Amino acid sequence: MKATAHTNIALIKYWGKKNTELNLPTTSSLSLTLDKFYTTTSVEPANHDRFILNDQVVDATRVHRFLDILRQQLGDFTPLQVISENHVPTSAGLASSASAFAALTGAVTHELGMDLPKEELSRLARRGSGSASRSFFGNFAMWHKGIDDASSFAESLNAPELPIALVVAEVCDAPKKITSTEGMKRAITSPNYDRWLSKSANQFIDMQHAILDQDIDKIGALAEDNALGMHALNLTATRSPFTYFTDKTQLILSLIQDMRHQGILAYATIDAGPNVKIITTTQEAPKIVTILNHAIPSLKLEIAQSGPGISYD
Ligand code: ADP
Ligand code: DP6
Ligand code: CO
Repeated sequence: MKATAHTNIALIKYWGKKNTELNLPTTSSLSLTLDKFYTTTSVEPANHDRFILNDQVVDATRVHRFLDILRQQLGDFTPLQVISENHVPTSAGLASSASAFAALTGAVTHELGMDLPKEELSRLARRGSGSASRSFFGNFAMWHKGIDDASSFAESLNAPELPIALVVAEVCDAPKKITSTEGMKRAITSPNYDRWLSKSANQFIDMQHAILDQDIDKIGALAEDNALGMHALNLTATRSPFTYFTDKTQLILSLIQDMRHQGILAYATIDAGPNVKIITTTQEAPKIVTILNHAIPSLKLEIAQSGPGISYD
């Protein structure tokens, strides 16, 4: 059984766990699923659990652990061979874990003959990677932080499709040194963490309104504020402070400010990696590509738009 799930980029970020065993987050989060980046995963019965990613046998610890959680939740099943293709750089802060664990959850449940509601799938995938909970849905999705396993799930925002675009500036596609899981462990030790939590709760509500109002400028402004706040936590962590930013990340951030001064709608969001996603309109996206291309010729640039939910074949 084969499933395809697209990555999603959080406009309001998940960055901290309240319960690591159940993967309950400290905040609710809200994302846009992207058309350009996705994972396809197929599973079939085998003699023992096996994981092949992009035609290579790779470290399967996380996949094994997740399959065992699924066995616990869904009832035991035979060992599986998992074959996956990432059409997104792995571990580079472009949300490979989101599309990966959504696709894996979809493939396994379908292999078992189960046709679960997406909210239920999102609860299961959350245990593999939090951001995966949002990747079952097309367009905008929100993950309610909840208070326990049953109440921490994602759902569609049921918003109209907007002429929103994300210019993805790939600074580096190498695997990050500090995984998302490790990064957030450090970030929660920041003395500013509680302030970020309460601000995030307000931004989560404001973002829903901005989307329903189709106000792309407001969406961008809120997302940038939320993302920069997240990265400030990394820098101010009490335990092992760090940053995912590189020189190029910072240069792109300042170019975005220049573009805004010129009247271009452009805001940044950055995940657990050096790559920058620029929130803009479908109309202005090509202009931003031209400017960035001119300023940093080596930069890999792609224009992504709203993408679909999980599919099976
Ligand atoms: P990212 O920014 O790409 O989401 P994370 O640190 O959150 O990075 O997660 C990367 C990890 O996700 C990888 O080390 C691997 O364990 C897992 N992963 C990535 N792609 C796949 C895949 N297609 N199938 C299963 N697991 C995957
Ligand atoms: C910055 O979902 O990758 O992209 O649950 O530990 O696997 P784990 O973390 P992950 O973290 C994503 C962090 C983020 C923000 C977001 O996607 O909400
Ligand atoms: Co991830």
